[in-house]
Amino acid sequence: MPTVIFNFADGRQHTVEAVAGQTLMQAAVSSGLEGILGDCGGACQCATCHIYIDQSWLDQLPEMDGMEDDMLEGTAAPRLAQSRLGCCVILEAVHEGMVVTLPPTQI
Ligand code: FES
Repeated sequence: MPTVIFNFADGRQHTVEAVAGQTLMQAAVSSGLEGILGDCGGACQCATCHIYIDQSWLDQLPEMDGMEDDMLEGTAAPRLAQSRLGCCVILEAVHEGMVVTLPPTQI
């Protein structure tokens, strides 16, 4: 049951108790977190689950595949080196304490 800390662009912070096996997008949306839309339901087709992974956690995530890489070219907020799609990051127990930042906009 990894705890994930979401930082909002305006400085607010929200902690979510996720379930192992959930994606970051699912954890955020099921917690009612604003700032992640997940319009396509996690099919890697909308890029409205764009997030910035804290630098210290990047190495602990699987590499992105080509589809995620392509979709990240169409995000509303700038793509950064730590950009990922929340629906492509599956949470496991080892992600306890992961910190992510939400972009200022998803659309
Ligand atoms: S929810 Fe649509 S790309 Fe992630």
